[in-house]
Amino acid sequence: MNDGPCHPPPLYLPFECEIIAVHDLTPGEKLFRIMRRDGAPLGHLPGQFVQVSLLGWGEAPISVASSPTRDGVFELGVRRAGSLTGAMHRLQAGDTIGIRGPFGRPFDLPRLFGQDLLLISGGCGLAPMRSLIQYCEDRPSEFGQISIIYGAKSPADRLFKDELAAWEASARFACSLTVDNSDEDGCYSGNVGLITALIPPIILVPDKTVAVVIGPPAMYRAVIAELKKKGVGSDRIVVSLERQMRCGVGKCGHCTIEHLYCCQDGPVFWLDEIENLRGAL
Ligand SMILES: Cc1cc2nc3c(=O)[nH]c(=O)nc-3n(C[C@H](O)[C@H](O)[C@H](O)COP(=O)(O)OP(=O)(O)OC[C@H]3O[C@@H](n4cnc5c(N)ncnc54)[C@H](O)[C@@H]3O)c2cc1C
Ligand code: FES
Repeated sequence: MNDGPCHPPPLYLPFECEIIAVHDLTPGEKLFRIMRRDGAPLGHLPGQFVQVSLLGWGEAPISVASSPTRDGVFELGVRRAGSLTGAMHRLQAGDTIGIRGPFGRPFDLPRLFGQDLLLISGGCGLAPMRSLIQYCEDRPSEFGQISIIYGAKSPADRLFKDELAAWEASARFACSLTVDNSDEDGCYSGNVGLITALIPPIILVPDKTVAVVIGPPAMYRAVIAELKKKGVGSDRIVVSLERQMRCGVGKCGHCTIEHLYCCQDGPVFWLDEIENLRGAL
């Protein structure tokens, strides 16, 4: 029997989006402001990612860098890493890209409500963290004290420099920022050193604090060790993990961490769910 044309399930069907604006964040990273061509909101929560597709180049998972509280458009911070992200960096306002998603488990907002938050990110990890920071900015009554800790390789490598300055100036946030190496021209006057050095001076109440950690793989163990020294338990530490992904929807098995699928069971995990799994951190 012919049931007519065979449509792929919506999980595999990209929808058309228009790039509204492109901004340079650093020489290797750009911020894309994007809108669905049908005008519908993306419908994401902080911590989720989308699969970006470009005809002829394939797909790549990219975290949503903006909060759903700023709806209508969404933003992606993209590092030029290879073929698809390289092609994306050549796009301009008005160009079309395909998007599937949003996918993945977001931050557990109900468990964060009323808690003091320690938002710790390194390098490109500030892109997914920005979605949560913007959410906290827009819903200030839902959270306790919010501390933002961010480390980058150098002053020039810092993402969202204007927003970092605004968060530093805001009474809503306590910001501690650092870079591994200062600029040679000497214009930078902030902290220089590893991000782990920013954690010991922080005064926190372990039973009222949730720490969220997003960064390069090398950062997790050292940051988690410092958090544990401060008495923050594994049930109060959240991590967002990156794995090589293909389908993004739990079908291909490329992203597994033992029995877990990073694309569906994550990318956001409570530390006590994954810390004993081989290769998780
Ligand atoms: C859940 C998730 C969220 C992500 N969010 C962002 C984001 O917000 N911004 C951003 O710039 N990047 C993000 N990435 C990484 C991004 O998906 C890869 O950089 C991208 O797939 C590279 O595609 P490409 O075709 O340009 O590179 P390719 O030509 O495929 O590969 C270039 C290099 O990148 C490496 N690579 C490919 N995929 C990954 C991956 N998943 N993780 C690490 N290295 C990879 C390859 O091994 C190779 O060395 C995220 C990845 C995941 C899994
Ligand atoms: S990316 Fe295919 S199963 Fe996770």
